[in-house]
Amino acid sequence: MARSGKVAVVGAGFYGSTTAQRLAEYDIFETVVLTDILEGKPEGLALDMNQSRAVEGFETRVVGQTTGPNGEGYEAIAGAEIVIITAGLPRKPGMSRMDLIETNAKIVRQVSENVAKHAPEAVVIVVSNPLDEMTALAQIATQFPKNRVLGQAGILDTARFTNFVAEELNVPVSSVTTLTLGSHGDTMVPVPSASSVDGTPLTEALPAEKVEELVTRTRNGGAEVVALLKTGSAYYAPSAAAARMAKAVHEDSGEVLPVCAWVDGEYGISGVYLGVTAELAKEGVRKVVERDLTDTELAALKEAAEAVRAKQADVQSL
Ligand SMILES: NC(=O)c1ccc[n+]([C@@H]2O[C@H](COP(=O)([O-])OP(=O)(O)OC[C@H]3O[C@@H](n4cnc5c(N)ncnc54)[C@H](O)[C@@H]3O)[C@@H](O)[C@H]2O)c1
Repeated sequence: MARSGKVAVVGAGFYGSTTAQRLAEYDIFETVVLTDILEGKPEGLALDMNQSRAVEGFETRVVGQTTGPNGEGYEAIAGAEIVIITAGLPRKPGMSRMDLIETNAKIVRQVSENVAKHAPEAVVIVVSNPLDEMTALAQIATQFPKNRVLGQAGILDTARFTNFVAEELNVPVSSVTTLTLGSHGDTMVPVPSASSVDGTPLTEALPAEKVEELVTRTRNGGAEVVALLKTGSAYYAPSAAAARMAKAVHEDSGEVLPVCAWVDGEYGISGVYLGVTAELAKEGVRKVVERDLTDTELAALKEAAEAVRAKQADVQSL
């Protein structure tokens, strides 16, 4: 496929810079823009990434741009078809994602207002935490149609679940299919009934207690990495997930992926951003795709929706 278009990544920390690198290495965009408020950081990272082009063999150009408190520099994202918001603090050991809500809400609101001004046609992919709440806030602050604002969580959580199952059974990750829905937090809903190993249901491939153990490890997947790193949170798997979403949107692929999307009646749930499977295309979310769930899984999804709904109402005032 020919190279085309522009994708912007706001926030050049660990998550943003690795996302920009992955997007550039896909070699499907004309330009990847990377911005941050730290003077010189995005420019330096862009220069460094561009110098890897001759070795890695990609032609996409990375453009770094420092932005100011009043939106200075945001002209660089003009015309972007996709903007990925990674700006915001990551967790420290012992913190929950929800502990970041006040600080990150201010950042995500400011970034979103500038995105609305400078890239009014963009699809916005939010990754800043707490994810479900920041996705809702980005939609409120941009006033973009709800299908054009979505969040990254499900691809990552699912990839973690898949990795744990593959390691447990000592099989290739490509043999394993898993799914997680719900929130990117305590009410995450890993879905064993939609999970399998070479076509065998996960519930038959592993004893129930082992499945439960892996479900719990998946739910705590981010915290496990944070505890080991001690400063900062995961970024290799998270950036792979966000870049993958941007690719599906850019290529108008119609792929069904687990993402945080606006739910309007599916599963009997309405009016909330929640982790579900959805078809991704040029317009962002083309359609939320309902899955068959067991009664227990459906109840857990509804519980997640209510927990997220309460918090998403709070972000309006932050
Ligand atoms: N959704 C997920 O699955 C997931 C996974 C991992 C991390 N995260 C979240 O992603 C966010 C970023 O993580 P990280 O590891 O890159 O953190 P980081 O500290 O390495 O980088 C954050 C960057 O944001 C920048 N920033 C702050 N305010 C800004 C603003 N107003 N405009 C532009 N840039 C601004 C900072 O200068 C910094 O460079 C965190 O909130 C983290 O919790 C989400």
